Amino acid sequence: MFTKDHKLIAPSILSADFARLADEVAAVEAAGADVIHVDVMDGHFVPNLTIGPVVVEWVRKVTDLPLDCHLMITNPDQYIGEFIEAGADCVTVHQEACPHLHRTVQLIREEGAKAGRKVMTGVSINPATPVETLGEILPDLDMVLIMSVNPGFGGQKFIPGALDKIRRLKAMIDARGLSTYIEVDGGIKADNIAEVAGAGAEVFVAGSAVFNAPDYKASISALRAGL
Ligand code: DX5
Ligand code: ZN
Repeated sequence: MFTKDHKLIAPSILSADFARLADEVAAVEAAGADVIHVDVMDGHFVPNLTIGPVVVEWVRKVTDLPLDCHLMITNPDQYIGEFIEAGADCVTVHQEACPHLHRTVQLIREEGAKAGRKVMTGVSINPATPVETLGEILPDLDMVLIMSVNPGFGGQKFIPGALDKIRRLKAMIDARGLSTYIEVDGGIKADNIAEVAGAGAEVFVAGSAVFNAPDYKASISALRAGL
């Protein structure tokens, strides 16, 4: 589970060396990561193919950190149970991929209960989707993930419009007295994380900023210095 005690750094293993995945996860854990972010792509909702539940199952065996599964897939209902069974602590689906979003969010909760543990419910929105579209579902969510790039690839540039979306989402959460986490994903670097945190984000996904550096401890510390 996540904590509200401090802001969380979530390295995305999308930018890790997949041939050495266990070592990479252990290395970022030792370097101070709070959460492991797992980018699941289906080649349909987004133009890239990545990780399935079998990888989550093996990653689960090598770390106690929360596994934050970001499902960039069409028809996530079909796979939610498998990701939870594999060890996901948080399942985030895309608003744009879920015509029956309320049902999908309930399914995450039900599958978590079936597995005997609390699984966080998350919904993500693409850069062109307004936060206001989450107004009805917000009380049912543990986390909202604001995409600050168009999903599909690591190493893209932060889209500045995400800042105002984070501020508006924070205002919606505060106005209702909720404690929903705000996560941001895409183009987070040491030189923009302070501004993103200032807007109200609490969980920071970072792929290339962590894994494309030679020293993970240094890259995570540089990010944390902005928080
Ligand atoms: C993009 C993924 C991100 C990605 C972030 O679709 O959801 O999690 O790995 O990578 P960076 O931090 O390099 O933008
Ligand atoms: Zn992601």
